[in-house]
Amino acid sequence: MHLIKLNATESTNDYLKEMALHTVLTDFTVVTANNQTKGKGQMGSSWQVESGKNLTFSVLKSDLRLASDTLFLLNVIVSLAVHSTLKSIGVPDLRIKWPNDILSGSFKICGILVESQLSGPQLKLAILGIGLNVNQTKFGSLVNASSLKLLLGKTLELEELLFSVVKQLKKYFQKFENDGPQEIWNEYTQLLFRLNKPSTFKNVEDQMFMGFIRGVSPQGKLQIELEDHILKEFGLKEVKLLY
Ligand code: BTN
Repeated sequence: MHLIKLNATESTNDYLKEMALHTVLTDFTVVTANNQTKGKGQMGSSWQVESGKNLTFSVLKSDLRLASDTLFLLNVIVSLAVHSTLKSIGVPDLRIKWPNDILSGSFKICGILVESQLSGPQLKLAILGIGLNVNQTKFGSLVNASSLKLLLGKTLELEELLFSVVKQLKKYFQKFENDGPQEIWNEYTQLLFRLNKPSTFKNVEDQMFMGFIRGVSPQGKLQIELEDHILKEFGLKEVKLLY
């Protein structure tokens, strides 16, 4: 595995993206940083964590041959790889909050930011960015955030965890190549936070509504059953699941 360890950079996703523009990198090249000064989160948000205590890293996935409307599969694969690593070390009550936050109970312990480059109708290369809260114990105003140390009561070795996530990533990409998407898609769906439970959502107009999460469409939209058994699909910017 080609591992590039940085003390500090703005964002490991941006660093790897920039590098991939100028260099031919091997599949699963990893960039990790002790400190990200401009860490990026979902939908233009920022990802700020204490320096040296957590995993903030990006993995290059090249040699992809995914159609542009199946990109969400990357989020599925990364979520499952993190999930299975955390399960193997005994993190309790793990769930995936659509699209790809990893929760223990109702606490977020990992955020994922997948960025991809389309060349023509097919996706060839993607940057899989992972922020895993490991040994940080204070999250200030982020009341829904937690870490592995808080959940397991012990300090964890960062590099060991990193290798384990990359190993699982390779495993799930291999599974996809061998068996196609169906099985991993089912695994992801079964792990969805609040699947088939009455839940409260907020739409773009800030209106609250009730519904049941029933799954995720192949394009990555959240499928919610509303009143009168109507199944409606929502994109990332169109709905927020309230905790
Ligand atoms: C989220 O909002 O939940 C996604 C957070 C993703 C953070 C990771 S940390 C490593 C990689 N580099 C970034 O700038 N962001 C991702």
